[in-house]
Amino acid sequence: MADPFVSIAARLAPAFAAVAGNACDPVVRPSDRADAQANGALALAKALGSTPRDVAQRVLDAAGDVSDVLASTEIAGPGFINLVFTNEYLATQVAIAMADERLGVRASTDPHTVVIDYSAPNVAKEMHVGHLRSTVIGDALVRVLSFVGHTVIKENHIGDWGTPFGMLIEHLIDLGEENAAHELGVGDLDGFYKQARAKFEASDEFKTRARQRVVLLQGGDADTLRMWRTLVQESTRYFNKVYSQLDVLLTDDDLMGESAYNDLLAPVVDRLDAAGILVESDGAEVVFADGFTNRDNEPLPLIIRKGDGGYNYATSDLACVIDRVERLGARSLLYVVGAPQAQHLQMVEAVARQAGWLPEGYIMNHVAFGSVLGADRKILKSRAGETVKLTALLDESIERAEAAVAEKNPSMSTEERTAVANMIGIGAVKYSDLSSDRVKDYLFDWDRMLSFEGNTAPYLQYAHARICSIFRRASVDRVSVRGVTPQLVEQQERNLALRILRFDAAVWEMIDTLSPHKLCTYLFDLASDFTSFYEHCPVLKAESDTIRDSRLALADATARVMEQGLQLLGIRAPEQM
Ligand code: ARG
Repeated sequence: MADPFVSIAARLAPAFAAVAGNACDPVVRPSDRADAQANGALALAKALGSTPRDVAQRVLDAAGDVSDVLASTEIAGPGFINLVFTNEYLATQVAIAMADERLGVRASTDPHTVVIDYSAPNVAKEMHVGHLRSTVIGDALVRVLSFVGHTVIKENHIGDWGTPFGMLIEHLIDLGEENAAHELGVGDLDGFYKQARAKFEASDEFKTRARQRVVLLQGGDADTLRMWRTLVQESTRYFNKVYSQLDVLLTDDDLMGESAYNDLLAPVVDRLDAAGILVESDGAEVVFADGFTNRDNEPLPLIIRKGDGGYNYATSDLACVIDRVERLGARSLLYVVGAPQAQHLQMVEAVARQAGWLPEGYIMNHVAFGSVLGADRKILKSRAGETVKLTALLDESIERAEAAVAEKNPSMSTEERTAVANMIGIGAVKYSDLSSDRVKDYLFDWDRMLSFEGNTAPYLQYAHARICSIFRRASVDRVSVRGVTPQLVEQQERNLALRILRFDAAVWEMIDTLSPHKLCTYLFDLASDFTSFYEHCPVLKAESDTIRDSRLALADATARVMEQGLQLLGIRAPEQM
């Protein structure tokens, strides 16, 4: 365990337990006046009918000699125990963390199978910025949960089934299959959808055809299925373009659209019926989900099968729960889906629990997120007022990054510049999404996200590239300083070491709250601590070789944590910028 906060909590726990008479959390937190503070005495004092300062003293007495780890302990304020680590201890811990493949991040003590449902755009419809958020956040969660040892299954629950496919297929026939495929393949998904919808609204003849087509599709008519497949394939071809541009992990193997659950829908109905919770209401088959009511306080039904025999979005999501738990063996189900679908997912969860499909200890978690807003503080739209095309948005970001790199580093070769601009441009878009608290809306702001200062991808990438350039200039192989235990003399060296050791806490905070911005904030602090260190502590011009190597070791450790941290967010770290 390299994280000194975790280690000291474990070290103090027996002392707290001795005073309390039972297990008791030392509550170790960061502190302004020391490295850390243990606040456990405050809660304990009440239980013991004593003062917190008195309890704190008894804990310290029970802890005995801790001088191998702590330079000082001091009872402060109402009864906090301020803790200052020894420099030697911190230095050794940095060396231990750097010898570990996860750089000191603890593995999960409960590794299991996690399904992450993310991205999930709809066939023959442009991916909107909401799908961008889902894709970027979901991908970061895939990376971080795998990193600590979970078995992660990615599922892209695309919208590839339902009544709109009647009109979409008829429109495909009207256009001629080849033309239609071309239009979709190049990404004019919205145009295609809108034309189909316009015809559907304007023409009764088209409407009738569309309705008949849905029946054929559901009946498994071979020709209809073939055309449906064209729609799906051409759309996913476009989605894949966005995924590869975005540098996310999703592939065709992760496609698990609504249509994949078709054969499981009838069993859902049967099993709900067998569980005795399926009832008829207004001609439809529904389940009244425990605890859900409408505005008039009447119980709210989740519609399973409509009067016309058709199934619902909720039905496929219930089939999905069964499939994930029973076939895939998942114990955690994460849904990275926009906040407006909160009630839908809550009701699906409630019904799945009522039916016994999600046993105790099985988690279904809605990883909700807010909207992306434009400068006018409304949902981001293109200038023409349309949905923003994601490929165009990403191209623009890369272009802007290229201009910034050309200005910063004019001597870079064109080839290198293109590669670096790609990493910065894509990194900037992803990071601006990940670095704000996901449940809130966030403002899409080109100038801010591409700035080399502040909590941005370019700033973090630059910190990493700068360290690489120190080694390049000195012609020192980074691996050569990996065995060096740093000396922590200056305050900035010490701060940086302590920060490096907090990587574990940052990763776990991201996991516990399913909030990537926690890791972003940490990486920003790491970059800032490195900047102060680098300003105050000469590295290549250090007064001795020993100090130079020590500082190089700290710089290398910083770069490794930065690169790993960015990688967990799905962002590349160029070696040169
Ligand atoms: N396709 C849906 C949409 O665009 C999102 C699907 C989310 N996943 C799920 N299992 N319901 O809104």
